[in-house]
Amino acid sequence: MKITYLGHATLVLEVNGVKILIDPFISDNPRAQDIIVANIEADYIFITHGHQDHVLDVEEIAKNNDATLVSNFEIISWYGKKGLKGHPMNLGGKYTFDFGTVKYVNAVHSSVLPDGTYGGNPGGFVLWSNENCVYIAGDTALTEDMKGIPRTCPKLDLAVLPIGDNFTMGYEDALIASDYVQCHRIMGYHYDTFPPIEIDKAQAQALFRSNDKELLLPKIGEALEV
Ligand code: NI
Ligand code: MN
Repeated sequence: MKITYLGHATLVLEVNGVKILIDPFISDNPRAQDIIVANIEADYIFITHGHQDHVLDVEEIAKNNDATLVSNFEIISWYGKKGLKGHPMNLGGKYTFDFGTVKYVNAVHSSVLPDGTYGGNPGGFVLWSNENCVYIAGDTALTEDMKGIPRTCPKLDLAVLPIGDNFTMGYEDALIASDYVQCHRIMGYHYDTFPPIEIDKAQAQALFRSNDKELLLPKIGEALEV
């Protein structure tokens, strides 16, 4: 599995030849100006919750690629009225797609769509295939619900956790989250995009290192192999 970081909370996962885009927020991200929305390829677009910094470029990319959206029932219904196709899920449910299995798990946050429509409960995704298993937390506080992930899903090879603080947990809580989900290899996201979520990256990585864990912070446009 390959994961490419496109800034903020935007990722592209390549699993068994399928491209999954997560939470596209590119065109208004001043740090992601080198990423061209029109060039993005996606078979699926996963949406963790309805906030603008997670859905901004969904419509354009979905239309360009005839992509299938995967999110909670409320978000899929909202995009369905705009003519986009989707697969609705809800918390605790899993479904096996052509590329692998996806479980929509709890996130402690809020969720409203750009026009004020209720966005359902926010979530994260655990995704596994014959190759490996990753957890994409979405926007969330530290929550003991994370302890359910290693009990209900295959062993994680990577957990992608928000580390920017203010709107989500910060990196100190993400370190505890890595214990809850029993994964020592963490990729941080949802940081540095706006002033309230700017962090000291060296300090964050040093904290993880001193606890025998790894905090990966790929550059925007950079990919890593899981
Ligand atoms: Ni949010
Ligand atoms: Mn956010």
